[in-house]
Order: sequence, then structure tokens, then C-alpha cells
Amino acid sequence: MNTVHTLSELRAARASMQGTFGLIPTMGALHAGHASLVERARRECNCIGASIFVNPTQFGAGEDLGKYPRTLKNDLDLLQKLGVDIVFVPGVEAMYPPDYQTWIDVTDVTTVLEGACRPGHFRGVTTVVAKLFNSFMPSRAYFGQKDAQQVVVLKRMVQDLNFSVELVICPTVREADGLALSSRNAYLSPEERRASTVLYRSLCAAKESYDRGERRAEKLRTAMMSILNGEPLADVQYVSAAHPESLQELERIETGILLSLAVRIGKTRLIDNLLCGCRL
Ligand code: PAJ
Repeated sequence: MNTVHTLSELRAARASMQGTFGLIPTMGALHAGHASLVERARRECNCIGASIFVNPTQFGAGEDLGKYPRTLKNDLDLLQKLGVDIVFVPGVEAMYPPDYQTWIDVTDVTTVLEGACRPGHFRGVTTVVAKLFNSFMPSRAYFGQKDAQQVVVLKRMVQDLNFSVELVICPTVREADGLALSSRNAYLSPEERRASTVLYRSLCAAKESYDRGERRAEKLRTAMMSILNGEPLADVQYVSAAHPESLQELERIETGILLSLAVRIGKTRLIDNLLCGCRL
């Protein structure tokens, strides 16, 4: 495995590779969710690369940039075991030199849900992912459904800006009790960890209602809220039953629906989602 820190090292390493190239962008603190993306890329591509970069521009003021978990040595060991060819670990100055002034702004789909709670977040995500696409020139890039709105926004960017990369969306990896794996789960106390199962339980309650034939989106939101209300540690930021492309809240479900939610458990903000009758 070739670990590189600068753009010129990355370009040189990439130039020596032939065939399909799969990219897995990450912020490190890797877990089995990230590993599932790497394993899929390994099966589907001739060569694969990962990036580890805690991207400061996607964190808002007062968010957890400073305390975001950093476990570089373990991350590199894991990526090596999984058969990654190139790992790019740039410093902040390499990605954003002092005179940096170019941004990518996807409009409508970034104004709702995570975009409404975290202004500027997706501008940071799209900008860094565009830079990674231009640096790695991947044929495919692997993302998790865990961050469903991120997928919707990046698909929009790829289509609107004519990037020639295929986005591959991988299922959410969960703990046995349903909690979606996330680097931020490390912040939870044992009591909060028990409470955090409420996200998946509420999504499943809504999905069961959909599976029984309910097509009024408001009923699915209510089903989620009634489970969330039973957990005293849960501070709900939003519950949503939205169109899976436009992310607009639906009244009646015609084809499929994206159920999503953001909940604070103590100081930790968790997100999760389920799709009914469609895929991203
Ligand atoms: P990060 O949170 O490290 O996630 C990297 C990738 O792993 C994302 O595509 C995310 O959706 C996926 N992932 C996270 N948890 C997962 C789970 N439980 N199951 C399946 N996939 C999971 O997302 C980012 O980093 C950043 O925004 C990034 C795209 C790297 C841009 O900075």
C-alpha cells in the first residue's frame, strides 16, 4: 500500500495504475461501515484508493471538528489489510492553501434536512469531494447510504458538473441492535448508547406502517415521532418522509420514500435513514 500526503505524490502513484479505479473518500476513524465500502470496491475495481481527511470546511462553528476521532495508525493498518493500493492523507494546507477561494454549491437539495441544521456543511462536502475526484480521477466512487442526503447532493453535483465517475451506493452497516455504525458513536456514554437504538426503532416502525400499505407520509412521520417520544434522552432535530431525489416532504407516497431523522442523544448528534419502495 502506497501512503501519500501530497497531490504530486498522489498523481505519480495514480499514473502507474491501469484499469478501473475505485475511490473511497473518508474522514478516518474507520469502522466496519467504511470497511464494507472498501471491500465492495476491492471486488469491483482493478485498483482502489482511499482518502483520510477530516475536512474542516464541512464542520460548522461549534461542531466537533476539534474532537473528531483521529485513529490514523489503526486506519492505515485496516486499509492495508483490505488491499487498498493508494491512501491519500493530505494536510489541511495541501487541500486549502491560504489563498484558496473556490467552492461548489449545490442549491435546492442542500437547503433541507442536514443542510438546514448545518448551514455550509454540504458546500464543504461537495468542494472536497470534487477536489478528490479531480485528484484521483476514479472510474467509480463508493459512498454509504448512511449519509443519504450526502448521496443525493453528490449525485446532483456529478450530473450537473459532468463528472465522469459512477457513484456506487452501499447499504448501511449496523450494530446487532440496529444502531448505524458511525465514528460519532464513540462519544456516547453507556446510558446514551442504550438510548441511541431509538433512531432505528422509529425508522422500522414507520417502515412497517408503509409495508402494511400506509401511503400518507404524515402517518409515517407520526409513527417515528411516537417512538422517539418514548425515549427521554432523545432530543429530535427533524423527522422526514421525503421524495428520494428532490428531498421535498411528501404528502402522498407515489413511488418510494426516504425516511430520515436527526436526533441528539446528550451532546451527540446522530442521523439515520431507511428507504421504502426505492433506492438511492
Ligand atoms: P465519513 O463519515 O468518514 O464516511 C465515509 C463514507 O463511509 C461515507 O460515504 C459514509 O456514508 C460511509 N459510511 C459511514 N458510516 C457507514 C455505515 N454505518 N454503513 C455504510 N457506510 C457508512 O462521509 C464522509 O466521511 C465525508 O463527508 C466525506 C464524503 C469523506 C467528505 O469529507
